[in-house]
Amino acid sequence: MKRFAVFGHPVAHSLSPRIHAAFARQAGVAMDYVAIDTKDFPAALQAFLASGGDGANVTLPYKAQAMAACAVLSPRARRAGAVNTLIRNNDQWHGDNTDGAGLVRDLTGRHRLDLRRRRSLLLGAGGGARGVAPDLLDAGVGDLYVVNRTPERADALADALGEPGRVHPRYFDDLPALGEFDLVLNATSAAREGRFPSLPMSLVGPRTSVVDLSYGEAAIPFLAWGRAAGARDAIDGLGMLVEQAAESFQRWHGVRPDTDAVYAQLREHDARLVSAD
Ligand code: ATR
Repeated sequence: MKRFAVFGHPVAHSLSPRIHAAFARQAGVAMDYVAIDTKDFPAALQAFLASGGDGANVTLPYKAQAMAACAVLSPRARRAGAVNTLIRNNDQWHGDNTDGAGLVRDLTGRHRLDLRRRRSLLLGAGGGARGVAPDLLDAGVGDLYVVNRTPERADALADALGEPGRVHPRYFDDLPALGEFDLVLNATSAAREGRFPSLPMSLVGPRTSVVDLSYGEAAIPFLAWGRAAGARDAIDGLGMLVEQAAESFQRWHGVRPDTDAVYAQLREHDARLVSAD
């Protein structure tokens, strides 16, 4: 039986074991997938490798450390500066990042959004933002404004993306002057820490989609703000979570699972979900 795990801290609320178990049943794959809560990620990952672990997902706060543990990185993991998927290969870890592909697949496939030329605002410049920004550019968004509480991190992300005419780092104080966006994404962990910043409603118009990378309770403050401001769509990160998992599953097993049934099942329990992946 092949062995997989999700590493994080805390990770007890992670939906990944449930999602991967459902995918495995559907694909007829025999595997074990557990959540490993650790305060010492490098040691726990090493022990997992030594005991025959075949692959892993990595969540908060270890996506940057996971990158350091890899012998080989996919181009998209290198671009994101973060790894959420580990694949064992000759007793070494190969690293990938499926978050951005998961987000784009959810927005364009499930929610039928056309991202091309959308004037976009990305709130946050941490691991979550870095994971999705390159894929948003690849999906054809128009100008991408990156706003972060710590300005240097917004500047660093914009530099890393390497498209100066298209990507614009800005400060929270600039928000009232930035006008209306077609797409506003929240990639901050502010709500998880219980301190969501106040945002001007002028960012949102009747054609705006607001998207939170979190799901469950953590997505409520931002999406409530977006709805109150008159957004056309308010989309949480549950679909992205299922899609990034499907992308990881495909890397490990060579089979792309059908995500709709799993998504529908999780959506039924939506209000009680705690964002942990
Ligand atoms: P993640 O992997 O979830 O992105 P992270 O790398 O710790 O986690 O990044 C958290 C993001 O949320 C950062 O952009 C952070 O801003 P700073 O770079 O200034 O720390 C942002 N964030 C967290 N709490 C916030 C708050 N109360 N208001 C605004 N932004 C916040």
